[in-house]
Amino acid sequence: MAPPALAGLALDPRGVAHVLEALAAYPAHANPNEAARDEDFWLTVSQAFTPDRSMLNLNNGGVCPSPRVVQEAVKRYLDHANTAPAYVLWQLQDPQKETVRSELARGWGVDTEEIAITRNASESLETCLFGFDLEPGDEILTTRYDYPRMLTTIEQRERRDGVKMVKLDLPLPVTSAATVVERFERAITPRTKLILISHVIFLTGQVLPVAEVVALGRRRGIPVIVDGAHAFAHLDFRISDLDCDYYGVSLHKWLFAPHGSGLLYVRRDKIAGLWPLMAAGAQQSADIRKFEEIGTHPAANFLAIADALAFHRGLGGARKLARMLYLRDRWAKRLLQNPRVRLRTSLEPGWASGVANFSVDGLDMAKLQAWLWTKHRIFTVYIGKLDGDDSVEGLRISPCVYTLPADLDRFCDAVEVGIRTNMAT
Ligand SMILES: Cc1ncc(COP(=O)(O)O)c(C=O)c1O
Repeated sequence: MAPPALAGLALDPRGVAHVLEALAAYPAHANPNEAARDEDFWLTVSQAFTPDRSMLNLNNGGVCPSPRVVQEAVKRYLDHANTAPAYVLWQLQDPQKETVRSELARGWGVDTEEIAITRNASESLETCLFGFDLEPGDEILTTRYDYPRMLTTIEQRERRDGVKMVKLDLPLPVTSAATVVERFERAITPRTKLILISHVIFLTGQVLPVAEVVALGRRRGIPVIVDGAHAFAHLDFRISDLDCDYYGVSLHKWLFAPHGSGLLYVRRDKIAGLWPLMAAGAQQSADIRKFEEIGTHPAANFLAIADALAFHRGLGGARKLARMLYLRDRWAKRLLQNPRVRLRTSLEPGWASGVANFSVDGLDMAKLQAWLWTKHRIFTVYIGKLDGDDSVEGLRISPCVYTLPADLDRFCDAVEVGIRTNMAT
């Protein structure tokens, strides 16, 4: 139930400021799972976004929209920069990035001097994957399910430096930390010099036990790079919980920060040992800002991360995750009533995010994806076979906090018709 102060606010045309006011005025929910079902609250939240509701976007995992308050901040900073760029960009806006750095650090339990602001997860993770000196024959251990651009990075190192990538398999969906750790442990050889692991597998939304794999790497003296692209500001955790040394993230996914914003965490005593992607002076060797020497770039995207952080705090990490899981369960549990539907993602608490993947026995899933779009304007992602193996083949569904239950019911209605008619209608 909305408190009386909120009556009528949700659809108020005055827009952003009003929505934020409404969020701030909303009494704290006693319990995130109760909050997840509070449709008055989420309708108010949905009004902070500007989705095209003539279609249904169920690929927020690719990149999320920013709430209007963030979009407006970007425009404001850009307009200001264009009034006198060399002065505003470099003397006013660049220094203000420090506030963003310290707020990100505070929110995720690490030191301000351990956070670099980057353009995306690719930049953060390539900094790590290229930043270690390796010898020909050295091995980088990862999984088949890591992100293609990160695997391409390692492949380029194979061609350039003669290193070797070892990709292990995992029995997905997996719900045992011991199984994952054991697979990594078995694949380690005396030549293993780096490990890359996803916190959340982008194909299925599977959560991996990264703290345990980081602990394994530490025992064996192997640096572990964590790809947190889908986990950050989606799962409710702090980087400090993982005890890791390297964590790379896109902030334009689940933090809803401007497109082209990311973060790289490097533990303080590891900074000097990691080369930056673009050159920095020797005097910067132990300074986290050496990873930000990228030449002239818009400060607007980076400063407006602060607005996304304010919005995220308003939602609250636990409440946001609970809603994401609630939305996932709404469509997944309904579709599972059909015996031909298989979920590629476990619904067991702690083992998956709000992103999930399903397939239907006997149905061409690529065709279903195309049919949902052309016939119903429902946008999903088809996940194809991996090296000929169909263990993750299906449609990846990623709603967002602005997605309403009725949207998911419409999606389920369409999928059920598709199954019943083999997409003949
Ligand atoms: C697991 C994972 N890592 C890295 C990336 C790369 O993110 P970006 O394109 O924002 O650099 C993605 C993007 O979807 C991803 O899913």
